[in-house]
This record gives sequence, structure tokens and C-alpha cells, in this order.
Amino acid sequence: MEVNNRVALVTGASRGIGKAIAKGFAEKDYRVIVHYNMNKAEAEKTLSELPGGSHLLVRADMADSESVQAMVDEAKENMGRIDALVNNAGVFIEHPPADTGFEDWRKAWKETIYTNLIGPANLSYFVARHMIKDAGGRIINISSRGAFRGEPDAPAYGASKAGMNSMSQSLAKALAPHNIFVYTVAPGYVYTDMVRDFLEGPEGDEIRAQSPLNRAASPEEIAGLVVYLASDAPEYLTGSIIDINGASYLRN
Ligand SMILES: NC(=O)c1ccc[n+]([C@@H]2O[C@H](COP(=O)([O-])OP(=O)(O)OC[C@H]3O[C@@H](n4cnc5c(N)ncnc54)[C@H](OP(=O)(O)O)[C@@H]3O)[C@@H](O)[C@H]2O)c1
Repeated sequence: MEVNNRVALVTGASRGIGKAIAKGFAEKDYRVIVHYNMNKAEAEKTLSELPGGSHLLVRADMADSESVQAMVDEAKENMGRIDALVNNAGVFIEHPPADTGFEDWRKAWKETIYTNLIGPANLSYFVARHMIKDAGGRIINISSRGAFRGEPDAPAYGASKAGMNSMSQSLAKALAPHNIFVYTVAPGYVYTDMVRDFLEGPEGDEIRAQSPLNRAASPEEIAGLVVYLASDAPEYLTGSIIDINGASYLRN
């Protein structure tokens, strides 16, 4: 088998979409940096299930810039290079404006924006500086359909993903001269812990019916797209935001 020395850093790979992305990269012979925050045991399980060897486990709180910087230093020192960064880690915190006290409202906004937007911005900054020295790379950001459609029960989440879309477009422009290409993926509902209660609750049927496929996506469907973007997608696609929502929401 041909040895592929490419290295991918996947945030939030302890569970859900990130775990499927880590597996997708390992199946393509990447060395994978598996990032987690709270769920060490789950992240170790992800690591143990990856085909191939020389993968690495790292921890960081995306909301803490020092922790993010230390993770990049550790990853670079152990793996030598980072060819692909996937900003996947994220939180969805409900805070419907009409029913949330101000303290909880402020907390939800702070945690969401720090984790979903400022964390990926900082991580992209630190990784891009290495990619520039190493003659290029690819950044894939996991956004959401909610950035376009609105999130009435989690406005900070919608705003964080809309911010991520704009950040991705800016980085695509700023970093293309350095051979760094930036792609954004905007899923609809994906069957993971984040939305399990919704999909298995009373509104599950209505959610599935939003798509003519009458189901949510599997994490593997998102992973296949992300690995393609990191490996084979045209450079000229840089700056794009790619919908993967089962035709549940078609924007112009
Ligand atoms: N599921 C959906 O329907 C859906 C739809 C659209 C977009 N998305 C996006 O897809 C991405 C992955 O979602 P998912 O459904 O796979 O979520 P998930 O199953 O809830 O997993 C979330 C992941 O993010 C990590 N994480 C959470 N807070 C963190 C923090 N402060 N610092 C570092 N890592 C943190 C978690 O790490 P630990 O477990 O180790 O704490 C976990 O690995 C998210 O960005 C989400 O917004 C999901």
C-alpha cells in the first residue's frame, strides 16, 4: 500500500461527525490528530478504532486560546506537519429569547461564540502559520444550515455559524496566495448526540420530513464530503460554502 504521509487535525473527534471524519481520513491513509475536550474515554475509543498507525490524541478547550495554541504546538512537534485542519468541534445551547433569563442568555452567547467561532478562528490562525511555512494546506469548517435559516431557540448558534461562513470566505481570500484553500460545509440535521433528543422526541417525524429523503444525514455522509474536500476537491472551489442538507433547505 502506498504510504500517505498527510496529516489531518480533526476537532471534536471524540463523538459524532468528528469521529466519522477521523475514521474517513484514516481510511485514506492519513495520520490523524484526534482532538477532544471532555470525553477522553470516547476519544481514546475513536483513536483505537482508526485503521493505520501513528495517530495522535490531543486535548484542548476551543474556548481557551492558550489551550488551543498548546495543542497546535504539541501536534506539530509530534506529527511534523498539518496538511488538513477540520474545525468541527461545536456546541448547540438552547436559549429562546422569550423564555431565558439574562444571565443564562449571556452565558449561552459567550460559550457559543467562544467555542464555535473564536476557537476555530484561533486554531485556523495557529495552523495556517505552520501551513504557510510548509507550502500549503486545506482548512474545512463545519458550519450549519442554521446560519441561513435562523435558529429561533439558539440565536447565538445561528450567529456563530454565520460568522464562521464569513470567516471562511475571508480566510479563503487571505490564504490562497499561500496555497491554503478553505472550504465550508453546512449540514442540516445529522444523527449525533447534539440532536438525538430532537430526532427521537415528539418532533422527530417533522424534522425528518423536512427532507424529501425523510431522514437526517448520517455522520459518515458528512465525513465523506469533508475528506473529499481535504484530499481531492479543486483548489478553485476555495471560499465555497457547500450545503449538505438533503434538500431540506434550498437557498439562492
Ligand atoms: N448534528 C447536527 O445535526 C449538526 C448539524 C449542523 C452542523 N453541525 C455541526 O457539526 C459539528 C459537530 O457536531 P456533532 O453533531 O458531531 O456534535 P456532538 O456529537 O455534540 O459532538 C461535539 C464535539 O465537539 C466537542 N466540543 C464541544 N465543546 C468543546 C469545547 N469547548 N472545546 C473543544 N471541543 C468541544 C466535543 O468534545 P468532547 O465530547 O470531548 O467534550 C465533541 O467531540 C458542530 O460544529 C455542529 O455545530 C451539527
